[in-house]
Formats: sequence, structure tokens, C-alpha cells
Amino acid sequence: MKGFDTRICALVACLLLASQASGYTMEQMCAQWSGTGYVGNPTNCRAWGYCQGQKLVGWGTCPDDYIFNSQKGICDYPYRTVCATSAVQTCTAATSPMYVADPSNCTQYGYCDGKGSISYGDCGVGGVYSASSRSCVWGPACPQSTICQFMLSDIYVGDPDNCGSWLSCNNGYGTPGTCGSGLTYNLVTGNCQKTNTCNGNTDSGSSNGQFTVGDTSSTICKDKTNGYEAAPALTGKSYRFVSDLTTCYGFYYCESATAVGVWNQCPTGTHFDPTIGKCVSPAAYACPYNRCGNVNSVFMTRLGTSCEGYTVCASGGIGSCPTKNPYYDEVYDICTATAPGFAICS
Ligand SMILES: *[C@@H]1O[C@H](CO)[C@@H](O)[C@H](O)[C@H]1NC(C)=O
Repeated sequence: MKGFDTRICALVACLLLASQASGYTMEQMCAQWSGTGYVGNPTNCRAWGYCQGQKLVGWGTCPDDYIFNSQKGICDYPYRTVCATSAVQTCTAATSPMYVADPSNCTQYGYCDGKGSISYGDCGVGGVYSASSRSCVWGPACPQSTICQFMLSDIYVGDPDNCGSWLSCNNGYGTPGTCGSGLTYNLVTGNCQKTNTCNGNTDSGSSNGQFTVGDTSSTICKDKTNGYEAAPALTGKSYRFVSDLTTCYGFYYCESATAVGVWNQCPTGTHFDPTIGKCVSPAAYACPYNRCGNVNSVFMTRLGTSCEGYTVCASGGIGSCPTKNPYYDEVYDICTATAPGFAICS
């Protein structure tokens, strides 16, 4: 965390920036994979994690200037390894000309001149850059934004958007597949099976409060204290999204107050706001559960401290900013002299 004062920014712009973060956390990647091994860290191309038993059990950073090659699971020389989190970093190290995807903007691509500089090209209206074919293709989805982007090549993982289906990861790209009629993909074993693991779950929250996309609850939609009554704004639609009452990022889709709720999760970097039934910047809604979930942040503001305290996510410990800059600005991850205007500060 840096000590200097915050840059001036309109609250709305800050929140937009924060909620644009996309992709998957290392925890989410591990949860979809039955295997054991390395995954890349989507926030830092030199860093890696280690999955075992569908959990993130270790993490670290490559030595020296080495870049982590997620598809091979090794630390490799920067001049021949694409930094998937920074096109500029790749071009700085590249010793021969190459095209690279811009991780912050899929409608453009970078060209490394092989001498350390980068220039940008535009894919035009409706176009997105596909790193695998080194060409612009028709959008809107960014071909690089798959759970396989930071995972090993030649493995099968669960499809996070489609419980019971799998993706085959090859060189950072995921090709979807299904198990065939009557069969579902089991994330734990990595095999197709007859028992449906997606709709066979009960409400008990069996595995330490962990949810899987597609989990169901027969009671959650009836709970009127759970933002159900407070989110009537979806004109003409009878469905609602309600909190899972356990995590900051999970919600249930309720077709009606009597329906069985189906669990899903907000995009990485966002939290579920049950008062409007939407995924928002974590700073825009004071979620009462573990605020470190679904964000790749080292620190998160502690609720009820008027933004003067923060939680250290890795340890669960607490801390505060120096007296000179007493307020913690979660969006910019700095201590500031003036209190940020976020909802979590009130
Ligand atoms: C993304 O790149 C395109 C093409 O260079 C540019 O027109 C657009 O403004 C960029 N978008 C953002 C959000 O930077």
C-alpha cells in the first residue's frame, strides 16, 4: 500500500474502473479443476498459485525477472514469455517482433517491435483481438477471457458458466464440451457420471459454506428479509436475485417467491448488492460477510470504521492507516487524508 494522497476522481468513474475487472481468481480456477498443479495469477504475470483438491493451497512468485508461463506451469525467460497481464511488459522484454493481446482492452492489440517498444492497432467496431489466431475476430466476447487463460494446457476443467459441462484447455483457450445425454461432469473426479452433481445438492451447504454454480436452495426465495422485497425494480419481470446470506459474491436466481433458488456468482472483482439485485463494485455496497471473497485484493476496508480500518485478506488480521493519511481508499489501495465517499465508509 502506498502512502501518498489519492488522485482526485469522480466516485462513479472509480467504481466503474473497479467493476471492470474480469476473469477468474486463482481460487475459482482451482475449484473447477480436479487435478493438482500450478495456475497463473491473473493480477501479476510473475506470480503463480498451486491447486490441490480443488483448493488453492500455495502461491508464490517467480525468481528474478522471470515470467510465469501458465500453460506450461513453469517460470520462464521474459524475452520469450508473454506477460498475460501487461502487453507493455511483454514488449519491453521481447527481442523479436510480435503481436500481443492487450489485457485491458480487447478491441485493440499490441505490436512489439522487438526493440522494447509497443504500438497499438485497432480491431474496429465490433471486432476483438484473438491472440490464438493473431487476428481480429467478430466480438463481443474477448477470446482470451476464459478460465483456461491462466491454466495448464491439455487439461479438462469444469465450465464455470455451465455446471455439468467441461472445457478442454489448450494453450490458454477453452473448448466447451458436454458429457453426452444423461451424464454430468463431476468437478471433483474430472469424470462424466450418471448422478447429477448440479441439481442433486441440498440446502445444507455441506462443503464448508462453499457454493458451486448451479447449487439450489428450496428456502432462499421465500425469505423476504433477504432483499427480496427490497428489489422490486425489474419492471415487468417476476424474477429476483437474492443474497446467499453467506458470501459477498454469491446470489440465488429466484424465478418466483415459491421457486427453488439457483446459485450463481458475480464476476471477479464485484460483490452482490441485494438491494438492487446486481453485481457492483465492492466499495458501493457494504456487504456484511467476508469482504475479501471474490476480489484479488491484499487489503479490504473494514465496515463500521468510517474507512479508517482495513482487513489484511491473507491473514484476516486488521490494520489502520498512518495518522497523517488516516483513511483507507479501497479502490486505489492507498491511505488518504480525506475520507473516500464510498458506501462502505458511511
Ligand atoms: C480500446 O481500444 C480502442 C481502439 O484502440 C479505443 O478506441 C477505445 O477507446 C479503447 N477503450 C478503452 C476503454 O480504453
